[in-house]
Amino acid sequence: MNESRSALERKLRDHSAKMAVLGLGYVGLPLAVVFAEAGFDVVGVDPDAKKIEAINAGQSYIGDVDGAQVARLRKAGKLQATTDFAALANVDAVSICVPTPLRKTGDPDLSYILSSTEQLAKQLHPGMVIVLESTTYPGTTRELLLSKLEEVSGLKVGKDFYLAFSPERVDPGRTDWTTVNMPKVVGGITQACGEVAALWYSQALQTVVPVSSTEVAEMAKLLENTFRMVNVGLVNEMALMCDRLGIDVWEVIDAAATKPFGFMKFTPGPGLGGHCIPIDPLYLSWKLKSLNYTARFIELASEINTNMPRYVVDRVQEALNEHGKALNGSQVLVLGAAYKPDIDDLRESPSLDVIALLRQKKAQVSYHDPYIPHLDHEDWTLDSVADPLKAAKAADVVVVVTNHSNYDYPTLLKNSKLIVDTRNAFGQIAKGDPKVVKL
Ligand SMILES: NC(=O)c1ccc[n+]([C@@H]2O[C@H](COP(=O)([O-])OP(=O)(O)OC[C@H]3O[C@@H](n4cnc5c(N)ncnc54)[C@H](O)[C@@H]3O)[C@@H](O)[C@H]2O)c1
Repeated sequence: MNESRSALERKLRDHSAKMAVLGLGYVGLPLAVVFAEAGFDVVGVDPDAKKIEAINAGQSYIGDVDGAQVARLRKAGKLQATTDFAALANVDAVSICVPTPLRKTGDPDLSYILSSTEQLAKQLHPGMVIVLESTTYPGTTRELLLSKLEEVSGLKVGKDFYLAFSPERVDPGRTDWTTVNMPKVVGGITQACGEVAALWYSQALQTVVPVSSTEVAEMAKLLENTFRMVNVGLVNEMALMCDRLGIDVWEVIDAAATKPFGFMKFTPGPGLGGHCIPIDPLYLSWKLKSLNYTARFIELASEINTNMPRYVVDRVQEALNEHGKALNGSQVLVLGAAYKPDIDDLRESPSLDVIALLRQKKAQVSYHDPYIPHLDHEDWTLDSVADPLKAAKAADVVVVVTNHSNYDYPTLLKNSKLIVDTRNAFGQIAKGDPKVVKL
């Protein structure tokens, strides 16, 4: 083992290594906090000055991170934040947690990975370990990061510095599986890279799962998310088929879920949301297109899932029609805007498409979400109504898009004229009630 590796490993083992997290969002901030809690000196680097200000003031802007913990780590001098990438000059270990969205064309937007890598390359020094956490297509760590880091620094991977990929699996709002206890897959460019990265991560995370390469680690994440996307697509299509057949899809799913093996329960809904499931599989299909291969399951599931908001609006229109009303001019209250219950994450939420389509059909749309006070669409803005019960009473139809657990469903049921429930939020209490239309 060369001297720079053994010095780095020593610092990782005794937690005297200084580390940086690039990108302090839903993934980066919890990671920074977990390592600071384990005793490392952590600096977060993010171009968003508001986030930096908040952290340095001892505040958290992520639901899963406790503000008091940030304040305590700040006070203890374990956590700092800056917009200045020069901070990387003094660190031994760097996690990259920047966004990987899609462009308007549907192609991967790698600009955040590229810009953070360029900044990092300028500060790369011998004895450094770098882990990319952003979800991306297989080959990114080797093709984009490695080539840039070696070219700019003149250093050699596996000898002077260590590079690995470790996918993040955080599920916002979840409390049983968190950054600390979620098993963490780690694959290096070389064997030494994988070993150093696994050693580092095992200092603060409970279970590290080493794999043989960055490509295996990148692809494992895409398998996980594609599995989810395809199964959601399947169950959404089940909902469409059950509608044609006049069968309650929710009862079918509950019945199937009594099988003790070989079945995993997924539920239909108004469409996919969040930063991962609707997007990540498209990174894989994009990469495969360049190899003249069509990722058929991904394309099909994506088509079905993308059409769900339109299907929901059709159901609203039909339900109003049954009550002798047109969607045009009707008052529609959308309940819930976040992409899933009990969180404030609006990214890729189908609620935006549902509201946009309702507005296109000239409905008078209002919405309520206890976690999202304001919606900013390209073409319109809306404020959450103050009182959902009062708004439900006034509405011609209430459309449940997100089944937040703090809604008073029995009272909403009593006070609404008509409900389209895309999440089976009313469940048994609405059984047989003709004013509740389920997906
Ligand atoms: N949010 C999730 O639930 C989740 C789960 C698993 C994986 N991921 C993946 O993790 C990655 C990060 O996701 P996120 O949800 O934390 O995103 P986020 O948007 O919440 O946070 C990303 C942060 O990176 C910052 N940033 C942008 N450019 C930067 C740069 N050049 N250098 C440093 N920081 C920069 C942004 O200002 C932002 O604060 C994505 O690839 C995502 O797919 C997210």
